[in-house]
Amino acid sequence: MDIPLELKILNNEMMKFIFKHEKEGKKCTCNLDLDMVVKIYGDEEQQQIEIEQELETIEPGQIYVSGQCIGSGYFSQVFIGTHNNIQVACKRYPMKGDTFYNETANLKLLAPHQSFPTLHGILKLGIFYYIIMELVNGITLENYLNTNPNPVELFSVLRKIVKALVYMHSIGVTHANISTSNILVYRFGNKCRIKFVDFAFSRNNDPHEEIKCKGKIEYIAPELRDKSQTRADLNEKTDVYSFSVVLKKILASNILRDNFLRIDWFSIYSNCSDASQSKRPTFEEILKCLS
Ligand SMILES: Nc1ncnc2c1ncn2[C@@H]1O[C@H](COP(=O)(O)OP(=O)(O)OP(=O)(O)O)[C@@H](O)[C@H]1O
Ligand SMILES: [Mg+2]
Repeated sequence: MDIPLELKILNNEMMKFIFKHEKEGKKCTCNLDLDMVVKIYGDEEQQQIEIEQELETIEPGQIYVSGQCIGSGYFSQVFIGTHNNIQVACKRYPMKGDTFYNETANLKLLAPHQSFPTLHGILKLGIFYYIIMELVNGITLENYLNTNPNPVELFSVLRKIVKALVYMHSIGVTHANISTSNILVYRFGNKCRIKFVDFAFSRNNDPHEEIKCKGKIEYIAPELRDKSQTRADLNEKTDVYSFSVVLKKILASNILRDNFLRIDWFSIYSNCSDASQSKRPTFEEILKCLS
């Protein structure tokens, strides 16, 4: 496939398309009419309208958003709210950019699985845009690891994380920001369950898109730290690398290593963190090693 390098608008109808020819490796240009460009790249605005039409828009009168902030990052804050008489998490964005659409589209895709928060809808309140989702009544994995969990429970939490990732990848979603603060652990009866949050940088199968990988540098796979990264570099194997950093933190306390001697923890960790994407296992393979 030719590699797109640049698109320049020439006038209302035409664009100049500059690309690298796949076989000859040369830089080439051609003029395209705008209708054609939309066919090649997809019309981002159109895609966003389609996502929005599929989501429930919550009217300001139907929800109460409190000032109680339960988490914040570079772009967003998460508040507790009440919708249809139940408590919800309200993730507030300053605008409806890519991150807002990534998060809504992929949460919707993942909703049937218990390890992802249910999406209630989207809301515009004042100058802000909100994603309204199930409130997970738990703590981050980072905090959970500080509670000195018992070995059997910790092992089951780890398996649930891997099972959720098997499902996520099976439907073509890459999280792209896996970390111990984006996994929540909560109690359900006398068992622990997990839910992944923060799908702001997540992707589904859209191979043309150029990416900029964000998130905590420690968790980002080496191939994505390079500025020339492309969408093709961001795939399920980059999630496997981030998972290896999560695994390192889980193993740091020695709780699992001392109690699950049958498992070759070192080789799982070293394979998942391999510098070469192709040598990293899939989550299905990781799950088999954890049985
Ligand atoms: N559905 C939820 N239920 C309970 N707590 C949540 C939920 N979503 C997020 N949180 C809490 O809020 C924190 C921040 O949320 P999140 O990770 O989605 O945003 P962020 O890190 O600010 O995102 P970004 O990287 O997009 O700026 C999480 O670490 C978690 O503690
Ligand atoms: Mg986060």
